[in-house]
Amino acid sequence: MRSLANSITGKALLDKIRSDFIGIDTPYENVSGESSRRIYLDSTASSLMLRPAATVAADFMSHYSNTHSKLHHSANISTAEYTWAHERVLSFVGADPDIYTCFFTGAGTTSGINRMARVLRDLRPEKDSAIVSIMEHHSNDLPHRKHMRHVLHVPVEGLDENKMCISLPKLEAALKAGKGKINYVSMTAVSNVTGIINPIHEIARMAHKYGALLMVDGAQSVAHLPTQMHFPDDPESCIDALVFSGHKTYTPGSPGVVIARKDHLLSIEPEEVGGGMVSRVLEDRYMVKQEFPDREEAGTPNIPGAIALAATIEILDRIGMEFLAEEEDEVMVKAIKAIAQIPEIIVYGGTNLEECPRAASISFNIHGLDHGLVAALLNDRYNIAVRNQCFCAHPYVKEMMAADLEEEFGEIDFGNMSAEFMRKAGMVRASFGLYSTSDDVDALITALQDIVANGKTYGLDYEINDENDYVHRTYRPDHSQIFSVIGAIDKYLE
Ligand code: ALA
Repeated sequence: MRSLANSITGKALLDKIRSDFIGIDTPYENVSGESSRRIYLDSTASSLMLRPAATVAADFMSHYSNTHSKLHHSANISTAEYTWAHERVLSFVGADPDIYTCFFTGAGTTSGINRMARVLRDLRPEKDSAIVSIMEHHSNDLPHRKHMRHVLHVPVEGLDENKMCISLPKLEAALKAGKGKINYVSMTAVSNVTGIINPIHEIARMAHKYGALLMVDGAQSVAHLPTQMHFPDDPESCIDALVFSGHKTYTPGSPGVVIARKDHLLSIEPEEVGGGMVSRVLEDRYMVKQEFPDREEAGTPNIPGAIALAATIEILDRIGMEFLAEEEDEVMVKAIKAIAQIPEIIVYGGTNLEECPRAASISFNIHGLDHGLVAALLNDRYNIAVRNQCFCAHPYVKEMMAADLEEEFGEIDFGNMSAEFMRKAGMVRASFGLYSTSDDVDALITALQDIVANGKTYGLDYEINDENDYVHRTYRPDHSQIFSVIGAIDKYLE
């Protein structure tokens, strides 16, 4: 029975679940021996688990069975709910089920983008080039380099004014120059470094005008912004393929997701073959199923993960993505304004949110302090979890930092970078999710102000380890005492 009866939606639901994430209040001891709640500002790497989704997945396990079995109760339940998970995703991203299918693959976006790059290459082999932007994380860059003959990286706009948005005129120029050869454009909807939002429907219209398809990397957008792939009255604005990650959508342990046009997939044999996607196998041939998603999901899928992700998506949709985006925007606006006001901090990418709208991520550096030291101090002194370095987006980070690094180190030999150079070549990223609060931003700003004032002194307590990371000389918590699988098993068996 599926029903919305008696359900709360909108703000009431957001208020109810905002603090219902596993790990939102995990305590750790800081360098002074005080215990406090972890402030999780690393959601762009992986978001925390929505507890009701974990509960639904645990309940489902009582009925777990392989969907390829058929005539027992659990098989029926598993098959029905797994089918519903696909339908749920399609409706969440505004994809007409007559035109699009959804399939689960891998753990993040990487597998899905590799897959779709091969599909689009084989669909139109005469068009051997792809366009990406310099903003992409490696998942939406290297697959195209590997599977396509040529890949062009569209540069950002406003390098001098630190805008760092995609340059639409340069994208159009590349499409025009490569007309007839450009198979597809693959673009992130939101940068995982600056959080800058790309105008994907404008990009779709531009790509289609020149005969290219559009694949969107939704890893950083789907959990934070409303998504609409299909516009029945405006085909030029439609997105041809979308890929996103369950683990960045409040459901760690869930699969990656691809939403693609059925006609594209039907034109070629599925990229992956094996059980479940064939109707008949003889020694000398096999017949591929025509039904979706079966033909795209060879082997036994991650059924519990997909069900947990669909449960999360159901809850996000009941809150309403428009509303959720507005709520998250308040936290982001507060954070970026406050960080940008600290003169010793450089924020990467435009801070005028009218010009460069953002979602979820802010990357920055403190003048005179290495990114690794700042990240370690945030963790060790304030229990604030952030990510540092280059966030698997080396070209974009390099673009933003090259001038400063050249000033300090002279001409850079990227094939031979010293440990000292690497300690400078990176950023600190604070990233937010729907559980992030105004209090979290206040804590971050207080910590950053303290680090600006005292970071050099605090730094004297640190040394560089074999991995070129900053580690405190004496504060070395034994993390296996906090959690280990063996420890958890022993506790269970007590
Ligand atoms: N794309 C992931 C991140 O931004 C790995 O942290």
